[in-house]
Amino acid sequence: MPSRVDPDPQSPILILGGTGTVGSRIVHQLAAASIPALVASRSGAAPESEHLTGVKFDWYDESTHDAPFKAAGDRGIRAVYVIAPPIIDSGPVMKAFIDLALAKGTRRFVIQSSTAIAAGHRMGMGQIHKYLRELGNEGKADWCALRPTWFQENFSTQANHIDSIRNENKIYSATGIGKLPWVSADDIAAVAVKILTQKEPPHTEYKLLGPNNLSYDDVAHELSQVLGRRIKHDDLPREDFEQRMLAYGMSEDYAKVMANLDHAISLHAEHRMNDTIERLLGRKPKYFHDTMKEAMAVWQ
Ligand SMILES: NC(=O)c1ccc[n+]([C@@H]2O[C@H](COP(=O)([O-])OP(=O)(O)OC[C@H]3O[C@@H](n4cnc5c(N)ncnc54)[C@H](OP(=O)(O)O)[C@@H]3O)[C@@H](O)[C@H]2O)c1
Repeated sequence: MPSRVDPDPQSPILILGGTGTVGSRIVHQLAAASIPALVASRSGAAPESEHLTGVKFDWYDESTHDAPFKAAGDRGIRAVYVIAPPIIDSGPVMKAFIDLALAKGTRRFVIQSSTAIAAGHRMGMGQIHKYLRELGNEGKADWCALRPTWFQENFSTQANHIDSIRNENKIYSATGIGKLPWVSADDIAAVAVKILTQKEPPHTEYKLLGPNNLSYDDVAHELSQVLGRRIKHDDLPREDFEQRMLAYGMSEDYAKVMANLDHAISLHAEHRMNDTIERLLGRKPKYFHDTMKEAMAVWQ
């Protein structure tokens, strides 16, 4: 299907979840490169910049799904970055939006999935990864699936971690001594910007990993060093961890998935290493310690 989008570089890139941990970083990087972007979220907020336009968009309110295309006007939207809503069965609503975008002439889709979610997985992004791959094989879309491991920034952005570090000098998990290669949201965003703006269609997936594997005990040690006070890791039984996620407002099915993922880490499922970020960005991925140092005010 030929693209109906004006190839004009002034055609904006749509960032769904544009106010979130990764989305906000993508938005800043695009604005810094003078690339126009639509920043979509329920609030419709966008940083002050001549290159950015905020758009009110709610996955659960179909009447808002046309708003980004209205905001783009005749130029159309040249690429979309997709961050899923936080429900297990997010596939149908994301598929409907991708179909709408294709009908409006958008061709490139970059999705934020996870190392834990392969193409075809029952969770929404697994379904969308499979769908985009099929569209790509039929020549109907350009696509790329970013599959980051756990974010270094979780400790400074997620309320459960912020509260326990601040109030109890503790972090909780059900990961035992399992290690994982924590990745920085800055690096995920830099890869996303590259893929969203590069000329060649990507048609592939990338597992995005940080530079070294650390257990939650190691994380507690790093935090202790940065904060100058002892932070401990409390390793919970899977069911207790699930209850903790429920207490922080997660739905039952999502909390179960998160607890199962922690259990998988305890069995070393996430102990990985690759050079993907260095290959794509031409530099080393960011170290966990540096991200903690930048965020330390959050826990004081
Ligand atoms: N954290 C990790 O370690 C990790 C690892 C791998 C993959 N992931 C994946 O990354 C994704 C989360 O990314 P993130 O941490 O960058 O996002 P985030 O910080 O949780 O932000 C979510 C974004 O989505 C928007 N949003 C929430 N509900 C919405 C709705 N109903 N309609 C429209 N927009 C909505 C939020 O803005 P408003 O609230 O203003 O709408 C915000 O911009 C998840 O799919 C997760 O599975 C996370």
